[in-house]
Amino acid sequence: MEKLELLKAYWGYSSFKGAQQQVIDNITAKRDVLCVMPTGAGKSVCYQVPALMLEGVTIVISPLISLMTDQVKSLVNMGIKAAYLNSSLSASQQALAMQRAKAGAYKIIYAAPEKLLTSDFLNMCKSINISMVAVDEAHCISHWGQDFRPDYLKIVDFIAKLNHRPIVSAFTATATPEVREDIEHILQLNNPFVITTGFDRPNLSFQVMHPKNKDTQLLSIVRSNPEECGIVYCNTRSNVEDVCQMLQEADIKALPYHAGMSMNERKQNQEAFIYDRCRVIVATNAFGMGIDKSDVAYVVHYNMPQNIEGYYQEAGRAGRDGSAAKCILLFSGKDYATNKFLIEKSIESSQLEPETAQIIVENKLRQLNAMYGYCNTADCLRGFILKYFGQPYSGYCGNCSNCTGDFVEKNITIEAQKVLSCIAKTKQRFGAKMIADILLGSKNQNIINNGFDSLSTYGLLKDNTRDEVNKIINYLIVKDYVFRTQDKFPILKLNGSSVKILKGKLKVTMRTKKTDTLNKEKVFTVSKSDEYSEEMYDYIRSVRNQLAEEANVPAYVIFSNNSLKDMCIKKPTSLSQILNVSGVGTRKAENYGLIFITAIGLYCEYEKGFYTKEELQLTPLQLKNRSGLYKEGTAVLHKQFGRGTVTLANQKSDIVKVNFEKGGEKYISTTFFGMKPLPSKSD
Ligand SMILES: Nc1ncnc2c1ncn2[C@@H]1O[C@H](COP(=O)(O)OP(=O)(O)OP(=O)(O)O)[C@@H](O)[C@H]1O
Ligand SMILES: [Mg+2]
Ligand SMILES: [Zn+2]
Repeated sequence: MEKLELLKAYWGYSSFKGAQQQVIDNITAKRDVLCVMPTGAGKSVCYQVPALMLEGVTIVISPLISLMTDQVKSLVNMGIKAAYLNSSLSASQQALAMQRAKAGAYKIIYAAPEKLLTSDFLNMCKSINISMVAVDEAHCISHWGQDFRPDYLKIVDFIAKLNHRPIVSAFTATATPEVREDIEHILQLNNPFVITTGFDRPNLSFQVMHPKNKDTQLLSIVRSNPEECGIVYCNTRSNVEDVCQMLQEADIKALPYHAGMSMNERKQNQEAFIYDRCRVIVATNAFGMGIDKSDVAYVVHYNMPQNIEGYYQEAGRAGRDGSAAKCILLFSGKDYATNKFLIEKSIESSQLEPETAQIIVENKLRQLNAMYGYCNTADCLRGFILKYFGQPYSGYCGNCSNCTGDFVEKNITIEAQKVLSCIAKTKQRFGAKMIADILLGSKNQNIINNGFDSLSTYGLLKDNTRDEVNKIINYLIVKDYVFRTQDKFPILKLNGSSVKILKGKLKVTMRTKKTDTLNKEKVFTVSKSDEYSEEMYDYIRSVRNQLAEEANVPAYVIFSNNSLKDMCIKKPTSLSQILNVSGVGTRKAENYGLIFITAIGLYCEYEKGFYTKEELQLTPLQLKNRSGLYKEGTAVLHKQFGRGTVTLANQKSDIVKVNFEKGGEKYISTTFFGMKPLPSKSD
């Protein structure tokens, strides 16, 4: 089959997205590929479609067991021969899978990196024809990436041990040049086709808040999206627990997720979230890599994360289905110190050579500073991120809190001079907190002991709030108007620009919110579509969720929310029509088509008054059986009277009116159909 036919038949999509086609063409022309596309862009299709087109088997290397399991369930559900090999299988299950692989039962085999060099896996791979090795989440190979996985370094050895070198393709959403280079070199890609697509995700809106009380702010975000699900990221395990408890106490269905929980617990909570049994998952960054839950409406970062790479990937888990979604970061100055501490601790506990460790710490602090810049910039947030990834971006996006906020350009040269001269007066020996204390005229012990209350700069900004002073200092740091050291306790030092400002040769302006209403910042709600009925969508979503529960697969493996929405718009009444719905391939139409056609028909009849809400509550099996009954009823109708359209005769009676295509009409009891009538159009 051609690539487009495959896409339609298995995935149910009628066209490729973005650069998918280019990537697929290069792979099938036997060229190595390095593909960098943002989260949710559809990288999987880029290696799965060629896997079906190439002779032999594709090995996919993927870092997380849960990820692998879901992907394989998804593929199998679409009718593709796939399997996985990782430690979640027992030894005998693994042996069986390998035996079947040898017998040619699979086109795609997912493997954990630690499996690669084990002797039985290698033997199996040597006895079959491997056409491609696809490395998913390829940034895991790089020290510079945010999820370095030493086992990924085994990939090259593995490839070298194969009978012949297969095509090697690598996929990631991390776009920084260091990571890209590492992937290319460490994986030894051979003259690869390298593609980095635009990183913009226009449907995501970005927002940075500096709330006085993060809990109140978070609650108001969650509450203003009662029907939607979201992810809340925190920087430490204890924060996860506290925030989760806070939400639970406010009667919100929230569950925690962090590496300190047992495997089992984590799995349960992740599933509850994916299967829509809980609405909010509160997690550390251990959660979410490659998770394909397409209907996440918001991602809130309760703390500032450590780097923009991680932030964009985590935030990018919102709105994968292309609907409008929000990415909100709740910033506080403390987050900087905590992250710095976490970075230093993680390096101390690693077993790296001191020199390497030093380089890594410096690099991580550089990344942290960029993240800090994001939280304190008054420029377009989207622009900030895209520029960080090397993508030129000018102007304002109109869809971030800085673009939509009500800003005024304020001259703060005087305030800046006060801050800088305070730094000078204290001999450039203190950090931001102390400088702010002095300027605010604080009477704390430290100030008194040091005699700072007699400095000429003492209390110079006492008419400002602490928050305002902090903002000014942050702004000077972000703009490089003052230098902040990267020591354990960072110190503020003057630089060339500071001197110019002090001499009045450089004017400082800052964009600030006109009404700086920190805790009244606008809270959004995700816009709803008016193309389809929300109630119908909820109904068929519940059918889909029941099916998923029964089959023990995540809901999207059955149909994505986007497919369900498309169904609500197209309202298919036959199997051939349901194939026109986005995301419905041949196999899924065969397996689930009747159930959904019946559910949609039933719902339409409910809207007309044939049914009560209670009567809609059927199990998937009951729905399937009904479709048969309906078919029988209409078959008899066709045979005896010819084709016709069934409509409700009278709101209260169970008599329907049939208008026949050949002309004429007839009133028939619904019992004629052996049931209440289904779709209004008989087919
Ligand atoms: N051609 C297409 N048309 C419509 N939807 C598509 C197409 N290709 C992929 N998708 C859908 O896009 C979603 C994201 O795909 P995928 O999981 O491959 O993203 P990804 O790029 O691997 O993201 P991540 O970096 O988070 O792993 C999936 O729901 C997938 O079914
Ligand atoms: Mg992916
Ligand atoms: Zn913007």
